[in-house]
Amino acid sequence: MNRQPLRLAILEATRILEQAGVASPRNDAELIAAHVLGIDRGRLPLTPLVDPPVVESMRRVVEQRAKRVPLQHLTGWAALGDITVDVGAGVFVPRPETELLLEWGLKLLKGREYPVVVDLCTGSGALALAVARARPDAVVYAVDNDPTALAWARHNADARAEAGDTPVRLYSGDVTDPTVFAELDGLVDLVLCNPPYVPEGTEVPREVSDHDPPQAVFAPGGGLAVIRHVVGMAARLLKPGGGVAMEHDDTHGGAVPELLRARKVLTDVRDHQDLAGRARFATALRG
Ligand SMILES: C[S@@+](CC[C@H](N)C(=O)[O-])C[C@H]1O[C@@H](n2cnc3c(N)ncnc32)[C@H](O)[C@@H]1O
Repeated sequence: MNRQPLRLAILEATRILEQAGVASPRNDAELIAAHVLGIDRGRLPLTPLVDPPVVESMRRVVEQRAKRVPLQHLTGWAALGDITVDVGAGVFVPRPETELLLEWGLKLLKGREYPVVVDLCTGSGALALAVARARPDAVVYAVDNDPTALAWARHNADARAEAGDTPVRLYSGDVTDPTVFAELDGLVDLVLCNPPYVPEGTEVPREVSDHDPPQAVFAPGGGLAVIRHVVGMAARLLKPGGGVAMEHDDTHGGAVPELLRARKVLTDVRDHQDLAGRARFATALRG
């Protein structure tokens, strides 16, 4: 078998993905190579030559990615914090920018013992499970209203519990229902939420329109319908000194902080940018 330079296969993959309009072609080409080889991306330079079947497998995956199937659906996983979660059809793929929300939350929890944490709109369970990983003493609750998302969350929660993490408490519920988690009113240290927030009718990349569940991405009311309920829920769930962080559309850097400020019990309202400088999430503390 004529072994081939991996470098050339990655270059070819990058070219194909670039032509297909993929946003980060080199990144995806390298991650596909690592996935096919079953190694970490950092070890690619240690693999100068590969067998033809590896190149063929790469080609097949690149072909799918060129059709704009999300990279994470092809590899089967997405990372958040110190964990990975399995993802695929019917569940929202956790995004890198959500790391910032997680970091803010974990910072707030520093110095608090046995904190109570709630992840609203949990999807794959990524935020809840990343908190449980980082804070084994935390009691973490998570909720979603989509049975398919909850099945992924259950699968991921079982895998994390098997790996030794503190189990998260997973619930089926609608965050627009004012009775959800009523038993936790005034007891919660941290509310995290990455809700559906894209204004309906917004054009989104094909990876999103063809593969993320619409109810995970779009919200009525100019993108604010679910967020409005989450703000009310955070105000009732948080204990004094507790905090809420919620992701929002980059056009809502004014609107979401305004909704938070309208709640008298919430103080220290701030908006935060992502690494690209876009308004990305808002935070508040319970006074
Ligand atoms: C943007 S995804 C976020 C998933 C996960 N938190 C993450 O960051 O990867 C939004 C999630 O909210 C759920 N969702 C939408 N409307 C909801 C509602 N009214 N109540 C509960 N969950 C809802 C969707 O099913 C979806 O899983």
